[in-house]
Amino acid sequence: MTSMNRKPLLSLENLKVYYYTDEGVVKAVDSVSFNMDRGETVGLVGESGSGKSTLGLSILRLIPPPGKIVGGKVFFDGIDLTALSEDEMRKVRGKRIGMVFQDPMTSLNPLMKVGDHIVETIVSHEGVPREKAVERACSLLEDVGILPERFNDYPHQLSGGMRQRIMIALALCLKPDLVIADEPTSALDVIVQYQILELMRKLKQVYGMGLILITHDVSIVAEVADRIAIMYAGQLVEYSDVNSFFNSPLHPYSEALLESIPNIQLSDQKLKYIPGIPPSLINPPKGCRFHVRCPYAEHRCGEVEPQTVEFERGRFVKCFRYVE
Ligand SMILES: Nc1ncnc2c1ncn2[C@@H]1O[C@H](COP(=O)(O)OP(=O)(O)OP(=O)(O)O)[C@@H](O)[C@H]1O
Ligand SMILES: [Mg+2]
Repeated sequence: MTSMNRKPLLSLENLKVYYYTDEGVVKAVDSVSFNMDRGETVGLVGESGSGKSTLGLSILRLIPPPGKIVGGKVFFDGIDLTALSEDEMRKVRGKRIGMVFQDPMTSLNPLMKVGDHIVETIVSHEGVPREKAVERACSLLEDVGILPERFNDYPHQLSGGMRQRIMIALALCLKPDLVIADEPTSALDVIVQYQILELMRKLKQVYGMGLILITHDVSIVAEVADRIAIMYAGQLVEYSDVNSFFNSPLHPYSEALLESIPNIQLSDQKLKYIPGIPPSLINPPKGCRFHVRCPYAEHRCGEVEPQTVEFERGRFVKCFRYVE
């Protein structure tokens, strides 16, 4: 491997994204840092409102107002995306970083045939002749398990699962190095959800792209990811390889998350829920943001914010229990 390829595919450094609302400043992403390598899948997990979508959108600089990236850096393939002009950023979106959203209906033009969505994207970004683009679109449709005769269908003629396959084909059509998928399966029933995840796993082997999979469902991450990033109240509280994480989660919030998912191997498992409510991101609790709900909380947890420490090689945790 050349030294050029050793730089991470994506590297976030103290990224801060705030929404300036009438009620106050929502610190939706508050100093998040992590690295991911080429071809890796990172599962980004956290409860509703923890900042997952904001984090995903900020990598592409698609935060809607009143939101703003207020600090930190996003290095993609060594380039600081936060420093690019809007013109330069447009060349990154789609071409180098693709995105799959939860609800395909809001991203697909209802008046456009699904095949043409892909063809137009390829033609407008790469300027190849239309026939070439049609050829590529058909082969992509095949890759995502859609029959070529569906090319001329309109979005509403397809099932939810098929629409999501189209979105995946669209995200892949310019052969990006990274795809960010925000709850790509949460609107689908369990069987279709499983099929889409299988598809994404298969496509990763063929296309070799990195994937950030945003979900509130940890069990999905266990199935498809190499690493897991746990967000709590706008911060990353744990970042780890998936095997170590599921064998021994470090952060008390991670532990609680795992105890709250049904495990088919343990039929007598007592399902626990995490007591308390997610904190406000306008006035987050002082100290560790989880301390009010944490069974291990000590005095200092409510006073001082713990630093993130590297517990083992590649395993990061933000909790005083792991500070000497
Ligand atoms: N456009 C917006 N204007 C103001 N606040 C926003 C906006 N979008 C998100 N927020 C706030 O930012 C915080 C993080 O929201 P975000 O949507 O990133 O969370 P999430 O983890 O993706 O949640 P979910 O699982 O429900 O999708 C929340 O407090 C949310 O209310
Ligand atoms: Mg979200």
